[in-house]
Amino acid sequence: NWSMDDFIEDEIQTIKETVGDKRVLLGLSGGVDSSVVSVLLHRAIGDQLIPVFVDHGLLRKSEAEQVLKSLGEDFGLNIDFVDASNHFLNKLKGVTDPEKKRKIIGKEFIETFSNEARKFKDVDFLAQGTLYTDVIESGTDTAQTIKSHHNVGGLPEDLQFKLIEPLNKLFKDEVRELGEKLGMPSELVWRQPFPGPGLAIRVIGEVTPERLRMVRNSDAILRDEFAKAGLNKTVWQYFTALPGIRSVGVMGDERTYDEAVTIRAVTSVDGMTAEFAEVPWEVLGKVSKRIVDDVLGINRVLYDITGKPPATIEYE
Ligand code: XMP
Repeated sequence: NWSMDDFIEDEIQTIKETVGDKRVLLGLSGGVDSSVVSVLLHRAIGDQLIPVFVDHGLLRKSEAEQVLKSLGEDFGLNIDFVDASNHFLNKLKGVTDPEKKRKIIGKEFIETFSNEARKFKDVDFLAQGTLYTDVIESGTDTAQTIKSHHNVGGLPEDLQFKLIEPLNKLFKDEVRELGEKLGMPSELVWRQPFPGPGLAIRVIGEVTPERLRMVRNSDAILRDEFAKAGLNKTVWQYFTALPGIRSVGVMGDERTYDEAVTIRAVTSVDGMTAEFAEVPWEVLGKVSKRIVDDVLGINRVLYDITGKPPATIEYE
């Protein structure tokens, strides 16, 4: 007889009792889990919640604006927004090794978040959107050995908080249901998984502002066409990546020597294994045409037909 309404009531009560008059810090990423936790906590303790949103400049098109509008304006969360995009881009200059990129982003993220956290007093708690599957998976670390994963764990010693993890008995679909019950918009609730290191691991080779623009704008086109075709709720993840290939093309009568993008679209249950999605040719055709027409610097669009294994979902 478990119902989501009872869950919300119980959790709000528990959170209030646990927190008392202290404050709770939360790292907002724009993803489903941290967004749902932030709205739940805000219902329970209002502005005792301090949502910190670090923008590393590697987010998808309009993502930061959307989160600020929806959670900040519509839900009234008092978001501490930190625009660190220039800082991250500088740190990534000249770096091409996948693991180096991940390590730099992870380290800078924790540092930026910590510096921000130190500005607030009377904070006893850190809230996190840990799911039941995260709890199980932390027992096995195969994923960790393939790619160093990125999240706000491992804060420095002067910042040790008690954890609040209201979602740690829920599965992803239950978190989405919870989000809907809390009145959250479907763009937030149905968001596809997005990796902590963001677009940086979808740009093979050096991350430059130009290359970020190409991956970001082509990704926005892909997402738009997938939504129009109704594929956004059935395909687990869909995005574009820059494989770092330049090839010769022709635009009008002119020779071009530009970059390619790949389309990655996979079905999966938990991200551990995946199949490439069978996307209708018509949709792919539209995406391809719009990308080469609208995204300066791209003259070729490729479709990735590899599963996981042997590939991974992301490129780095
Ligand atoms: P891979 O590329 O390993 O990805 O097949 C499996 C799933 O995990 C996501 N992913 C990440 N998520 N931090 C995250 O929070 C990360 O560092 C990270 N790397 C990959 C990926 O998008 C896919 O859903």
